[in-house]
Formats: sequence, C-alpha cells, structure tokens
Amino acid sequence: MTLKAKEELEQADVIVGYATYVDLIRSLLRPNVEVIAGGMGEEVERAKVAIERAMKGKHVAVVSSGDAGVYGMAGPVLELASLMRVDVPIEVVPGVTAAVAAAAKLGAPIMGDFAVISLSDILTPWSDIEKRLKAAVEADFVIVLYNPQSGSRRTPLVMAHKILLEGRAASTPVGIVRKVSRTGEHVTITTLGEMLNHEIDMTTTIIIGNSKTRIVNGKIITSRGYNIVNE
Ligand SMILES: C[S@@+](CC[C@H](N)C(=O)[O-])C[C@H]1O[C@@H](n2cnc3c(N)ncnc32)[C@H](O)[C@@H]1O
Repeated sequence: MTLKAKEELEQADVIVGYATYVDLIRSLLRPNVEVIAGGMGEEVERAKVAIERAMKGKHVAVVSSGDAGVYGMAGPVLELASLMRVDVPIEVVPGVTAAVAAAAKLGAPIMGDFAVISLSDILTPWSDIEKRLKAAVEADFVIVLYNPQSGSRRTPLVMAHKILLEGRAASTPVGIVRKVSRTGEHVTITTLGEMLNHEIDMTTTIIIGNSKTRIVNGKIITSRGYNIVNE
C-alpha cells in the first residue's frame, strides 16, 4: 500500500471491494464507514455500486489488491463510468503491485526490462497468452507470471512451463512468492527445471529470470550491466 492509498481509505465514506481484500484493510477504516464487500467475478457489479454511491455525493474507495491499475478495478470503474456518462471525479491511486513486492523479497530480479503475463484464460483467450509468452521468451525478458494456477485451473501453468523450457535453460533462476506482505508469506528460490515441484496457487507470483539472471548469496539478481569490480 502507498501512503496516498492509506490516506484515501481513512477518509472514505464507502468502501467497495472483494471481501478478502476489504478484510485486510478493516483496521484502517472509519468506524461508521459503509462496507460493500462482494465475491470474485462480481467486479462489474461492484464498479456499478461504487459509481452509484459516488453519484449520490459519497466519497467512495474501490479497493483492489496491490495496484488497482494492474489486473484490478481501475479499468472496469473508468470504463463503466464512461459508458454511464457519469460526471463524478475519479482518481486512480497507485499501490504496490505483486511483481514489485515479490521482486523485493527475492532480491533484484526485475532490474531491467520485464514482461508481466497473467495465466488466467477467463478473460483472455489462451492463444493470446501463449503468443505473449513465446514473444517474451524470445525477447529475453524477465517474465513475471500472475494468476499462475488455482485448484481447478492447472493446465495453463503446465503449458507455460513447457514454452519457457523451450527457450530457456532448466538452470534459469525462478522466484516463487506466495502471499507476499500477508500472513503466511512464503518465498522460494528455485530453477525453471524445478519450478513445478513447489506449491503454487492463486496468491502466488512467479518471476522467471532471463539470460542475465543469477542466484548470488541466496538472492536473485538480474544484472543490468554495471561494471562492478571487487576493489
Ligand atoms: C487479479 S491479479 C491482481 C493483481 C493486483 N492488482 C496487483 O497489482 O498485485 C491476482 C494475482 O496477483 C498476484 N498477487 C496478488 N496478491 C499477491 C500476494 N499478496 N502475493 C503474491 N502474489 C499476489 C497473484 O499472481 C494473483 O493470482
């Protein structure tokens, strides 16, 4: 969370969000705040409720995990407000996205160019995800995988792993971070060859190194090319 997000939450009259995320911020909220918590897959309904409350003059905060502009609620809220021709001010408040929070736990794996790819094929066809994965592997990007797998959705990660191994060595460093900055946080440093032997769920972010990535003193570092000499 950024300081700006904390300030906004402390001032809001209405909080709208996925129930799990609302629970994580309850301690910051004003005593009489109206909380509208919903489930997964109800994002558009939540955006609608938030806009309707704002139209009634309420100061509404719509919460996402990490950053609202990265697979979060910023897009649906802005799109729906435009469709509804709503004239209320909407501000997107930045947060700390999982890629950045996970990278900090691992060392410095995203020091240079990196690509973020979600493996969720609910809103994006698998053919697009596959194309993006192949292009990122080919271009030697460090790759950050969001939404890697859930209890019922396991095939995309197995297929992504195959694509990754076709273009990268099995010894490529990989960082797996579950529940970063939450209770139960778990950090694993492994290799591409071993990646699937670790616990990976919907609260996991995976960072796959590129040709410049090494494991040094228990940290993953992607060299940016500085001439660092041991004096
Ligand atoms: C729908 S995306 C939301 C991303 C979020 N808006 C962000 O900026 O981090 C959900 C995915 O983000 C990643 N994620 C979110 N919170 C996480 C956490 N605390 N630890 C690790 N990964 C997380 C996981 O890959 C998860 O499947």
